[in-house]
Amino acid sequence: MNSASNDTASIDWDALRAVANEANTHAYVPYSKFPVGAAAITADGRVISGANVENASYGLTLCAECALVSSLHMTGGGRLVAFTCVDGHGNIVMPCGRCRQLLYEHSAPGMLLETVSGIKTIDEVIPDAFGPRQLAEFEASAD
Ligand code: THU
Repeated sequence: MNSASNDTASIDWDALRAVANEANTHAYVPYSKFPVGAAAITADGRVISGANVENASYGLTLCAECALVSSLHMTGGGRLVAFTCVDGHGNIVMPCGRCRQLLYEHSAPGMLLETVSGIKTIDEVIPDAFGPRQLAEFEASAD
């Protein structure tokens, strides 16, 4: 397996977006009719993807990022270095707030995202994020 760098120039965003567009065709969206496909590259070079899956109990909807993170773990785990997400017209979708947190948990330092306003780092889309470090620091300071 090749290792992937999250250097902006080394990511083939067109190819990654093509994977997201293919994932989009697997969305289950009878309620919103808004299919989303997400794709990412892992630190060890795997390309993973996911699509949104809705539910009659609307609040139980699984965003495309949920499926992508599940796929991450089902295929060996690791960290994400690059991510993109598209709607049914191929337009870039910003991950919702919950999914920014979800992606942050599994991000490599400096993870890149293709956004509606260009390539950004995970720290730019979820600044001062709460994460595993805060839990570890609290545990370390407890006595
Ligand atoms: N959706 C995602 O899959 N990811 C996001 O980051 C934004 C929203 C889905 C959830 C729902 O199925 C549809 O888009 C409309 O909100």
